[in-house]
Amino acid sequence: METSAAIGELSNEIQQLLLNLPREKGWDGNPIYQYQRFWTQSNLVSAIISFQRHFQAEDGDIILTSFPKSGTTWLKALAFTVVNRTRFPLQNSPLLTTPPHQLVPFLEVDLYWKNESPNLEDIPKPRILATHLPYASLPNSILNSGCRIVYVARNPLDQFISLWKFLSSVQDQNMNLVSIEEAFEKICSGVQLCGPIWEHVLGYWKASQENPEKVLFLKYEDMQENIISNIKNLANFLGCAFSEVEETQGVVKEISKICSFDNLKNLEVNKNGKSTRFGIGNEAFFRKGSVGDWSNFLTSSMSDRLEKILEEKLCGSGLSFKK
Ligand code: A3P
Repeated sequence: METSAAIGELSNEIQQLLLNLPREKGWDGNPIYQYQRFWTQSNLVSAIISFQRHFQAEDGDIILTSFPKSGTTWLKALAFTVVNRTRFPLQNSPLLTTPPHQLVPFLEVDLYWKNESPNLEDIPKPRILATHLPYASLPNSILNSGCRIVYVARNPLDQFISLWKFLSSVQDQNMNLVSIEEAFEKICSGVQLCGPIWEHVLGYWKASQENPEKVLFLKYEDMQENIISNIKNLANFLGCAFSEVEETQGVVKEISKICSFDNLKNLEVNKNGKSTRFGIGNEAFFRKGSVGDWSNFLTSSMSDRLEKILEEKLCGSGLSFKK
């Protein structure tokens, strides 16, 4: 029987639901629950259910999706800037004064948190919204409307280290973070918030293969390798391709610079303040921003083991990750 104070605050419906869900210990020592095949925290379940039940997607909506620590902040910055480039001249971009997570809120963590029907009318159109939910758990209106979905995926080894370092940096007296070895054991068995990661990436990968007009699948490593072509690809997909004049004027390059890791990390607005529901400082979202940092933290037996698992899980899908 769940005894934590957090559970006590939940509605009867959610309490009953949680009692019947598989439960494991999360990285912070608190229980996590397997709801609809993915692992989540007790305090997120009602927000997720409200989002699933009540969100009405509109044809023009843009839904940014990702597994946590896969480049969500970068994608939010890019999509916002690309879509709004005629509304706000780049030199006055709201990105320079507002954290990406405020410009593009999370549906479950920000908007539906303790609110079954938030007012989404005031969000400027096209609405750009984000979620970490797996594809199979998205509300029907997202799947069935004409809205578009952009997913960013990242090599799970780097994603693991990014999350580990993130939680280490934000941990306080309420968080009893498990050791890196214990966290690694858990991800190898798929027990991780929003995980298993292979199910998350495969859900969006398959959807993007089946319906490329609806789902764009980006990879963090490809974006690092060639951000210009990825920005153009994003703009084409979102129906706001760059004109020849814009290309000649260097607009794409300018967007890549504004949204770059170094630029965003060094903006005053991202060095200070907090943007998310959980009171996490903006600076925590900008750590190293590189590919392959896992090799500084994982032993070769750990990386070999996770790579083998991924190879098996992704086998036959056509999806792979650069290191
Ligand atoms: P690292 O911890 O490896 O540095 P998310 O945005 O999904 O939370 O992912 C965070 C990861 O993306 C962190 O990775 C962070 O440093 C990196 N990141 C944030 N902004 C970025 C940007 N503009 N360009 C590249 N990487 C970025």
